[in-house]
Order: sequence, then C-alpha cells, then structure tokens
Amino acid sequence: MNCEITQNIRAGADLIRQGEVVAFATETVYGLGANALNPEAVARIFEVKQRPHFDPLIVHISHIKQLDELTYGLSEQAEKLAEQFWPGPLTLVLPKRKRIPDLVTSGLDSVAIRIPAHPIAQQLLVASELPIAAPSANKFGCLSPTQASHVAEQLGNEIKLILDGGACTVGVESTVIQCTGEIPVLLRPGGISLEEIEQCVGPVRLAQIEDYAESNSHLSPGMLPKHYAPRTRLMIADQLNDVPTDGRKGLLSLFPLEETFLKGHQFSAQEILSPAGDLKIAAARLFTALRNLDAAGVDQIIALRMPENGLGRTINNRLERAAVS
Ligand code: TXA
Ligand code: MG
Repeated sequence: MNCEITQNIRAGADLIRQGEVVAFATETVYGLGANALNPEAVARIFEVKQRPHFDPLIVHISHIKQLDELTYGLSEQAEKLAEQFWPGPLTLVLPKRKRIPDLVTSGLDSVAIRIPAHPIAQQLLVASELPIAAPSANKFGCLSPTQASHVAEQLGNEIKLILDGGACTVGVESTVIQCTGEIPVLLRPGGISLEEIEQCVGPVRLAQIEDYAESNSHLSPGMLPKHYAPRTRLMIADQLNDVPTDGRKGLLSLFPLEETFLKGHQFSAQEILSPAGDLKIAAARLFTALRNLDAAGVDQIIALRMPENGLGRTINNRLERAAVS
C-alpha cells in the first residue's frame, strides 16, 4: 500500500485540481472523488473502481449556489427537499446542463447531485473550488467503505491519498430521489428515510428492485440488483425456521436473540447491529458488521430481516442486493 492517510485538505484539493482521484470521508460512506468537469479525471474513477460505464456518478458540491452551473428548472419538490436535507445524505437527480461530461452521467440527460455534510468533504469541495464526482470508494459490487482503513484495504495500491474523517456516522449511502418528473421517484433508499422524504414532499413513487434489473433502465442504469455484497454467501431470513441447520454460519441481527428464537441453531460468529433496536445506529454499523462476518470464515451469513420502516428499509435493500446470487 503506497497511499497516504491524512487530513491534509490542501494536498487533496491540489490532487483534484491536477486531475487525480482522492478518497475522502463523507457522513454516508467514503467517496472516490475527481474533478467532475474533467472527463479524463472521471475516467480514472471508473478504472480504479472497475466500474461499468453505464453506472452514472453523483456530483458533489459544497453550496446550493453552485446548483445553477450544473442543473436548471428545479421543481418545487426538489427545492423543498434541498432546503430540508442539504447538506446531508440526500442525492437529487435533476436535469443536466451540457457542461457536465457524458461520462459522469452515462449519457443520461439527468445528473445526480449531493451536498455532503461531513467537514472533510465540505473542506475538500471548498478548497478545490470544483464540483467533485464521487462514487463509494470500493471496488464495484463490493461493500461500501465506512472507515479510511476499508478504503486502504481495497484501493490503497491505486490511489495517492485518503482523507480520513473517522467512521462514517450515517454508514449507508445517500437516499437517491429523481426529481425530473411530476412525482418524485425514490431510486435508492438511503440515509434519509422514506417517511422523512414523504413528510417533506408528500407521496413519492418507489422504484422496485426489478426496475434496476435491466442495464438500460431509464430510471437508474447503475442500480443493479446485485450490489453491496460480502464475499460470503448471504441469506435473508424472517425467522430461523427457514434456515438450514448445517454448515458454519454467521448471524446478523438487529438485537440479541432469545434462546427460544434460536431454535437450536449454532452460530460461529454473530453481529448485533443495535442492542436497543435503534435503526439509525444499525445502519451506521451495517457494512462493518458484514465485513466482520466476511472475515470470520463462515460458509454462509444469515441476516434477519429488519423492520420495514425508517432506516430498516434501507438496510433491507442493501441485504436484498447482497443476497442476489
Ligand atoms: O452516499 C453516497 O451517495 C455516496 C457518497 C460518496 O456520496 N456515493 C455513492 O455513489 O453511493 P455510488 O456511485 O456508489 O452510487 C450512485 C448511485 C448509483 O446507483 C447510480 O445509478 C445513481 O446514483 N445515479 C447517479 N446518477 C444518476 C442519474 N443521472 N439518474 C439516475 N440515477 C443516478
Ligand atoms: Mg457504490
């Protein structure tokens, strides 16, 4: 590993301005950033991530006043969402201006934009004076990084700098909402719950996991069903009756299970996301817990389904996409 792990914002901003990629902390997950207006720099992101070009990137900005350079004709709903949730774990898909390279948006006429809240991300955006395109800083299809060390493990040989901001407090990616039509569409559940979104703008349409299946889906071409996956096979269960009793198994659950619920199952590794059943805390711990189970050398990870409300919906989405074989 030859990359530097630091909080040196100036060094990061200089690299971005020189057309290099830099990994940096955000409140959701670590991002792998490059100058969003420079196609060669953006191409480096796809190369390092081994990401297919049909999967478009999110453009990060530090302040809402930069929105005008990248998009136009903001709908009333988009305005409300931006006002309530930015800076924060919300990404809006909006009409794209021509100056954004097609590589960023995979040729779509919309662009995904987010204002992150994390001070490291904010300072990098301000110091570089550029919009920064950034996907999560992991190899395509793998678990998203929520600590600088996760990035170093996967990408440390290929990038020069990781801006360390500690463990991500939200821990799952941003909520992606398309605001180009009449009714907003939830493309990806994320760090802001559906309930919070609907409280702000009323009912939204939910993109179904099947919508993601076609790589040319007009909704969101990058939202493949298989994603966010540990190396170990993962099965989602509502109760342990559904689970085979053989093999070395690891258990992921929201809170500790009663003996009676265990039904005689033995687990050689166990990760409890939040003993108090707090779904925000559970989301923040999700990817680290999956990494730990992956490292435990089990044959299979059994994930007990979360309640389908608040950030439970986001966690279930990530688990479902990890369980696709
Ligand atoms: O929290 C996050 O969103 C993190 C941090 C780094 O900001 N980023 C992130 O990026 O998760 P990524 O590339 O892993 O996910 C971006 C998602 C993809 O599923 C992609 O398909 C969707 O946003 N997306 C990007 N541009 C889009 C567009 N124009 N229309 C529809 N979906 C788009
Ligand atoms: Mg990602």
